[in-house]
Amino acid sequence: MTISIGRGALFAAAALTSLSIASNLSAHGDVTPQAVDTSALPDIEGGNDNWLSENPYTGNAKAIEIGESAYGQNCARCHGLQAISGGIAPDLRYLEPGASGDEWFVERFRHGSSHDGKVYMPPFGDVLGQKAGWAIRAWLETKYTDE
Ligand code: HEC
Repeated sequence: MTISIGRGALFAAAALTSLSIASNLSAHGDVTPQAVDTSALPDIEGGNDNWLSENPYTGNAKAIEIGESAYGQNCARCHGLQAISGGIAPDLRYLEPGASGDEWFVERFRHGSSHDGKVYMPPFGDVLGQKAGWAIRAWLETKYTDE
């Protein structure tokens, strides 16, 4: 009996949390992934069947421009405008620069994050593709801070 009350309370808490996240999300706009036009960027050999672990577009001005817009349409509603988090998701300005940050970035971008059957961040790898992912990362690198 005690156990079932405990579980009920947990589920209620989880439902409340997802409700408040959902209303935050709609306040920031559309939740459907927005396609990103990456045709101006160099192709990555193997496309989405061959994910790199380091950003091929670091410092590429065109990638940074595309990445900024792609971020605004797909990530800002959770991670905040200009990558400044409002608190519902991590502040991506603090993502480590360089190869280890790249690896962690692409892992989350591709697969998202779920715990106990609840989706905290949806996967983007298949919907936006590798070129868009690295373009976003290229833009985020320009926002990096360690303060
Ligand atoms: C529905 C909300 C949501 C959206 C949309 C979203 N994220 Fe996330 N993201 C999260 C949450 C929540 C976490 C933390 C997950 C965890 O710790 O398990 C996270 C974690 C991350 C991390 C790891 C950060 C760290 O410090 O460990 C990266 C990188 C990331 N997201 C990138 C992106 C990118 C790029 C986009 C857009 C293409 C995006 N996210 C869209 C909610 C979101």
